[in-house]
Amino acid sequence: MELPLPLHTAIENELTSHPTTRLAALAAQLSKNYRAGVPFNGGTYLRSLEDVTAYAAFRLPATFAAVYSALKQAKECSPGWNPKTLLDAGAGPGTAMWAAASLWPDLEHITLLERDEAMINLGKRLCAYSSVPSMLEAEWIKIDIAETDEVFPHDLVVASYVLNEIPESRSQAFIRKLWESTGDTLVVIEPGTPEGFWRIKQAREQLAAAGAKMIAPCPHDKSCPMPESDWCHFAQRVARSRLHRKVKGGELSYEDEKFSFVCMSRTGGRTAQGRVIRHPQVRKGHIRLELCTSEGLTSIVVTRKDKELFRRTRELQWGSAFSPTPKT
Ligand SMILES: C[S@@+](CC[C@H](N)C(=O)[O-])C[C@H]1O[C@@H](n2cnc3c(N)ncnc32)[C@H](O)[C@@H]1O
Repeated sequence: MELPLPLHTAIENELTSHPTTRLAALAAQLSKNYRAGVPFNGGTYLRSLEDVTAYAAFRLPATFAAVYSALKQAKECSPGWNPKTLLDAGAGPGTAMWAAASLWPDLEHITLLERDEAMINLGKRLCAYSSVPSMLEAEWIKIDIAETDEVFPHDLVVASYVLNEIPESRSQAFIRKLWESTGDTLVVIEPGTPEGFWRIKQAREQLAAAGAKMIAPCPHDKSCPMPESDWCHFAQRVARSRLHRKVKGGELSYEDEKFSFVCMSRTGGRTAQGRVIRHPQVRKGHIRLELCTSEGLTSIVVTRKDKELFRRTRELQWGSAFSPTPKT
């Protein structure tokens, strides 16, 4: 996938005022810290305007791709649902807002909660490139979400790549606050690592205990059947611009962002019958699918003999919803 053109242009323009070699060095340091899960003193990964610019250069395209992909799965499970208000919690430069506004351009009001002033300023500058009225008029609030008891009621609440920055002792309270702010649907997204999935699994259990109903990706409300040795995650490919490649020091014209997520709502949706949880293995005459279903994890082989199912299975990808019978 490609970034929305206004966002792509906004990032490129933002980066031109900083030397690429400096951004590349900062991106490498940030990447190391994020991977190790070790923030700077003061518990933050980002310390300066240059740090947030490096974040926009090397992480924003990938986190946008992950959020877009998760929200798209959620949208497919809630056809006809059109949120009017969006809360982006731990917004960074407003990544989730850009993704949500691409899928629901009729959003009427957007609130972004972020503790870092430099991030807020960057987010506002990027926003100015959008033509979506609710993005241009978005309300940015400088706040430490882990420290407040305030609730911000919105139809759709998204917390992307932020749970891992909340101290573990506060994470339950953080999820509780997000759920209290959720009018309809809450989406929590984390890196597609064993640790990221573990946090998502904990959030899923906590939300289910609070009465939340599954939307995506799970095809059921039962306990997660994933064994301890494995983790449920998905991948979204995103194009890299020339500048993006320079800052990341990579040659490839794309990258695959791995992410784990959960989307739950107050009313429930049309969950998938099965979810494809690995790349389908396409062989001569048959396709093997690894699925999560309400009966647990399973693998099935679809052969050419079943023409209609084979045709539909050929179009499936890792993360697709699977139905053994055609959609009516
Ligand atoms: C990794 S960035 C993710 C940004 C954005 N959501 C995305 O997906 O690209 C995490 C952001 O959460 C913010 N953050 C972390 N803890 C926070 C807190 N307690 N209150 C408010 N913002 C917080 C950080 O300042 C940072 O901008």
